[in-house]
Formats: sequence, structure tokens, C-alpha cells
Amino acid sequence: MGERIILQTNGAVDHALREAGTLEQWQEHVGRYAVGNSRLVLALSTAFAAPLLYPTSAESGGFHFRGASSTGKSTALVVAGSVWGGGGIRGYVRTWRATSNGLEGVAGMHCDCLLCLDEMGQVDGREAGQIAYMLANGVGKSRASRSGEARPSAEWRLLFLSSGELSLADKIAEDGRGRKAAAGQQVRIVDIPADAGAGLGLFENLHGFPSADAFARHLKTAAGEHYGHPSRHFLRTLVDNFDAIAPTVKGFMDEFLAENCPADADGQVSRVAARFGLVAAAGEMATMASIAPWESGEATRAASRCLQDWLGARGGIEPAEESEAIGAVRRFIELHGTSRFEAMGDLAPKDGIGSPIDQRISNRVGFRRRSDAGGTEYLVLPEAWRTEVCSGLDAAAVAKTLARRGCLVTGNDGKPQIKTRLPSFANPVRCYVLTSDILGEAEPRTYADRDFG
Ligand SMILES: Nc1ncnc2c1ncn2[C@@H]1O[C@H](COP(=O)(O)OP(=O)(O)O)[C@@H](O)[C@H]1O
Ligand SMILES: [Mg+2]
Repeated sequence: MGERIILQTNGAVDHALREAGTLEQWQEHVGRYAVGNSRLVLALSTAFAAPLLYPTSAESGGFHFRGASSTGKSTALVVAGSVWGGGGIRGYVRTWRATSNGLEGVAGMHCDCLLCLDEMGQVDGREAGQIAYMLANGVGKSRASRSGEARPSAEWRLLFLSSGELSLADKIAEDGRGRKAAAGQQVRIVDIPADAGAGLGLFENLHGFPSADAFARHLKTAAGEHYGHPSRHFLRTLVDNFDAIAPTVKGFMDEFLAENCPADADGQVSRVAARFGLVAAAGEMATMASIAPWESGEATRAASRCLQDWLGARGGIEPAEESEAIGAVRRFIELHGTSRFEAMGDLAPKDGIGSPIDQRISNRVGFRRRSDAGGTEYLVLPEAWRTEVCSGLDAAAVAKTLARRGCLVTGNDGKPQIKTRLPSFANPVRCYVLTSDILGEAEPRTYADRDFG
């Protein structure tokens, strides 16, 4: 005891782990206003959850608030940041742009703390994808040192909060080169609609303030005056009860998952639900320690609400790849269903006396015909299936998914292709037959439909 530990670095450490005011003032002017505001409680709980990663061996990751400007996204980041620090010219919150220049330094400095990254719009999609990926992975690039040996790459473990007008996936797709966020990226950076649906932007309960605008301005000012103490107090209780952390968190998480994660949810969903569970646990622990001035259950309710909003925006509890596969094929048919599919049978256009009219299909990908049930079926030739309809996707996996949903007819041999007679082919050819359900049905199962048991 009484040992002084000095951290020696190459230069001055540019951190914002400063303190101002007191814990009581923070509770009075910042913390209590989160009550009834799911996004604020979630953001604050995330701040408390960061130091739980290590004792619970949880993985790094983050939440991204997505939504229109002036809805309170940056405010939420400032509020969460006030748990850890503030002050100086920039306060605690960093920007995506500043971070892209020195990601490893910034991330390393926030190890086991909260990192707030504002305004994803300031960096291009490719960069955002790389930053997000590295942040969540917890390791930087490995580089050669001056002597040519591989230098160990920087490592960190942290939780981050981010804001932007687009989701990470949309941001990555923004440059139009067909890049997509990997499902793994989407699991580690959980995208939450900033708008809480109460007509007040990110907020739901204004605590008597005359407008959401005034509420947001109060929060930003107050968080700029009272900061840093909550994390110190929380860390003290954690250190005093270090061995109890993992079992306590596990208890809260098990309870959260039992109530909020459907038993048949896919693995990606349960991983995200576990992240929300960890954050809920942190918020409840900060409440029990009388640091977050909330009633017990507040943090859990907020996490549960945000998880549901995430699921709602994501479109169900099935793997992201499956919804993506169905969406891609559906979009292709919507775009090209008439222009690039030659009509056959009684769908083929005829003139006044019943003679077929030349259809002039350029870049034909297949045919369309009336199905027995009266809808329209789309027949896609194998080459076009692979290179056009399923471009950028695993064509065989897409076929499997569609067949399982009844959007693709399978042959008696179980194969996803069927031998069919087609105009202008002498012999029957193999093709993929999409049922009319591809345009209408195949809505992903919704979260609301599930019974939790
Ligand atoms: N929910 C809201 N409704 C109306 N005005 C808001 C809301 N949230 C914030 N504002 C106003 O917008 C300004 C910017 O808030 P900020 O949190 O930076 O928004 P964002 O990051 O979503 O663009 C605030 O100072 C406030 O005047
Ligand atoms: Mg902003």
C-alpha cells in the first residue's frame, strides 16, 4: 500500500479523465435527467459497463446512435462521457475524424474506459468501416519497426458510443462500390435508432423542461460542469468487491437474456442481446452503489427498450445474411422484373389478332410466366443467377434460404434448379424458379410475434 505507480510514456498523455464538481452535483444536474429516457440511460450504463469487460472477459464493441441532426445524439455522448471526464477545449467526446488519424493512440488511451466518437459523417465509408472494425477487434495494425522486425500491434479493450446520420452499414455502402458491412461488424457495433419515437427526438421524458431543445441544452451545459466523479466512485466499489463482479454481472445478464432474448434467436442476435445485458447489469450495479440516481430496474428497462428498437430496425431475429439475401433478390426482381425477363405463355404480349409481339429484351436474365396459382414466376438462368441476381452474395446459400422460405421452387431431387422448356432453347434447361412470394411474402419474423419462454 502507499506505493506510487508512475506511467511513463513517450509524450504527454492527452487524456480527458478530469473531474469537476462533485458526485452529488452530477447526480442532481445530469444523472437524474436520464430517468425515463432509454437512450440516455443506455448511454450512461455503457459508460459504467466499460470497466466490466475485463473482469467478465467480455468483448469490445459499441453502440451507434443513428438519426437526423439536432435530435440529441451528440448530447447523449456528452452525457455519457461525463461519467469519465470532460473539460479542456474538447471535453471528453472525440470525433470520428480526429480519431481516424490516430486511432491506435486514442483507442489505447481509452482502454477499459468509454470512448465517445461523434459524427461518423466526417469520415468516408471505407474509413468508418475500418475504424469500427479495428475498434471492436481490439487490435491495431501490425507494423514493421525501424529495424524491420514486426512491432507488436497496439491492443485495447473498450466500449464505445458513436453518433451519425447513417448506420454503419449504410455508411460503408455510401461510396456506391458495393461494399457491405460484414455481419460480424454489425454485431459488434450495434445500431440504435436515435429517435425514441416519442416525438422528442432522442428523448422521451423532459422532466418539466419546456422543450426537447431546452432539455438538450441543459444536459450539455450541466455535463460540461459536472463530470468525472461517477466513474471514480464506481471503480472504487468494483475494486472493493472485485471477486463478486463476474458472478453479479452474470446474474443480471442471465435474467436479462431470459426476459429479452427469444430462445430461438440466431447467434448474432444473442450476442447483441448479451451486450445489452452487460450494459443493463452495469447500470443496475451503478444504481445499487448509489452512483446512478435511478430506481432499480431503470437500466434494465432502458436496455430492453433499445434492444427491441435495434431488432425492429434490423427486421427480425434471423441472421442478417438471410434478410440480406431475400432483400437483394427482391430488389433485383423489382428493378428488372419486366425489363430483363422475357414474358412467356399467356403473359407474352400479343397484337390485336393474337399474334405474339417481339419483346426485344436486352441483357435477358430469364423468363417470367403465370404460375398455377395465378401469380407471376420468374425463371432465372444459372449464369445470370450467380453473376447478376446474387452478385456479391453466396449464390448457393441464397438459393437455400429462398427455398426454405418457399420463394424458390425445388426439384423432386431437392435441387434448387428445375429443368424447364423455355422459348428459344431446343432442349429443357436448368433454371432457378422464383415464386411470386419473393415480392410479397418472406417478411422476416418480427420480434413482437415471438413468445418469450
Ligand atoms: N430532441 C431534440 N429536439 C429538439 N432540439 C434538439 C433535440 N436535441 C437537440 N436539440 C437541439 O439541437 C442542438 C444540437 O444537439 P445535438 O445533441 O448536438 O444534436 P445531434 O448530435 O443529434 O445533431 C442542441 O443544442 C439543441 O438545441
Ligand atoms: Mg451531433
